[in-house]
Amino acid sequence: MPVAYTVPDASALLHAADVCGAVGLGREIDRGPGRHGLSNALFLYVRDPDQHRIELFTTHYQFIDLETPPIRWDVSDPQRAQLWGMPASERWFFEASEFPAEPVQEPLLKANPETLEEYLGLH
Ligand SMILES: [Fe+2]
Repeated sequence: MPVAYTVPDASALLHAADVCGAVGLGREIDRGPGRHGLSNALFLYVRDPDQHRIELFTTHYQFIDLETPPIRWDVSDPQRAQLWGMPASERWFFEASEFPAEPVQEPLLKANPETLEEYLGLH
């Protein structure tokens, strides 16, 4: 689970990516930019210098028109997690930083997501 911070809009998210590149952390961006399906939030995931994953995203909160029917997502629909953008890298899916005194647990769900490396034909 990443630590997440909200940013006000898309330009702030891209500015954060530019700052990452300017300070030498461009290769630490391991997912995004993209847009989540469930929340409709734009996102960018980056590793900090200690390799903890940080998510920057535009807010989940939005005004709801009560006359608009809710969207029912299927758990197997990949657009639930990402409407557009390149697939996440293998390290995004399968690597996480450990926290002292917190035991590592196996994931509850076994998934076989398409990774960026597979998408690009690198495997
Ligand atoms: Fe996210």
